[in-house]
Amino acid sequence: MHAKDSAWSGRFSEPVADFVLRYTASVGFDRRLAFADIEGSTAHAAMLAHVGVLSAEDLVAIETGLAQIRGEIERGEFAWALALEDVHLNIEKRLTELAGDAGKRLHTGRSRNDQVATDVRLWLRGEIDRIAGALSAVQRALVEQAARHAATIMPGFTHLQVAQPVTFGHHLLAYVEMFERDRERLLDARKRVNRLPLGAAALAGTTFPIDRAFVAARLGFEAICDNSLDAVSDRDFALEFCAACATLMMHVSRLSEELVLWMSPRFAFVRLPDRFTTGSSIMPQKKNPDVAELARGKTGRVYGDLTALLTLMKGQPLAYNKDNQEDKEPLFDTVDTVLDTLRAYAEMLPGLEVNAAAMRRAAEEGFATATDLADYLVRKGMPFRDAHEAVARAVRLAAQRGCDLAQLPLAELQQMAPGTGPDVLDALRLESSVAARDHPGGTSPVQVAAQVERWRARLAQR
Ligand code: ARG
Repeated sequence: MHAKDSAWSGRFSEPVADFVLRYTASVGFDRRLAFADIEGSTAHAAMLAHVGVLSAEDLVAIETGLAQIRGEIERGEFAWALALEDVHLNIEKRLTELAGDAGKRLHTGRSRNDQVATDVRLWLRGEIDRIAGALSAVQRALVEQAARHAATIMPGFTHLQVAQPVTFGHHLLAYVEMFERDRERLLDARKRVNRLPLGAAALAGTTFPIDRAFVAARLGFEAICDNSLDAVSDRDFALEFCAACATLMMHVSRLSEELVLWMSPRFAFVRLPDRFTTGSSIMPQKKNPDVAELARGKTGRVYGDLTALLTLMKGQPLAYNKDNQEDKEPLFDTVDTVLDTLRAYAEMLPGLEVNAAAMRRAAEEGFATATDLADYLVRKGMPFRDAHEAVARAVRLAAQRGCDLAQLPLAELQQMAPGTGPDVLDALRLESSVAARDHPGGTSPVQVAAQVERWRARLAQR
């Protein structure tokens, strides 16, 4: 490849140095945008013909050529050339081989600056839809486990100290809520992804009588970008997407951390199927929750991708700068990491086995129903602050004796908390404790079952 072959050779007297070629080329990674590029070019050509800038014959030659190129790429036959810098110039060069002058006319009224912004948006729109689907799959898996464990009792924690009993189903449904917000954020960002930069050309617009609404409609964009300078230089849409994915991965990471804890023999709350765990090369007894740990670790990459994009943008004067070529790898990495991670979870969660006895034992330790005793005393007429203090004394006594609240003799309880009757034993049972939290948002099995039904109906519509 010589300087005279490049798309701008007219202005240059010597070819670009080999290393500079390699340094500036993006075709090694941006070929991933090839189908979006072909889709965008096809729409652009159709618009040029529609407004009379391109002849009908040229349009046919371009459409036929682009369709052939698509086939070559799909079959792995396309010869990508580093010397042609990026996906756009590679495809355009091949089109010119196939379609002659018609191929050379495709770039009329367009620049790679609005072209690449269009391609990334088209591509990202599809990926957002895939991620939204993958999120729903994880939600389904969580909802079905929640259905199975609507009444399974575990200790709920605050400060990682046993706090109050909760149902495992309720705990899992908390993650369904988080993933629903992630989905909402992604679909909201999609609206701003789904706008058409094409027509901005290099930065100022074009002298040709283009019809941007035509292109937008053809490509399914909801609107055009209204300012040409903004159109070629804006990457907010990618940033927003990465920020939503960073939050999503933070949620995955919290769930991962819990799985790692619960898998630990100290907890022994859950088991994961062997195909999602690994052994140790030296310690024969080990079963490690690698998938959960990696998901937690990969959260860091996605944060890194977001930080890379923010940093990439902060120093750029308007309008397009070559810096923007660096937007792709972080974006691709985020999409790949999120999709793989969600897939792993959608496949792993249905195989999660719960050790209900271990959960129950843990809930029985740590005076998890102390609040229930205080509430009981309040119902008998004691002000809550006094009840809190009375129960604290009872807890201290039970702790000294190494017994549970329910094992304290009734007479002693009555001394500390006048008004206590034999029915206190019922208030101290784990089942009564969770069942009593029977209002929307509460942990009772009845509420969990209702949440499950609501989610099932919602997810069935996707
Ligand atoms: N490969 C470039 C990118 O990813 C395409 C746009 C190049 N535009 C330019 N004026 N050099 O951003």
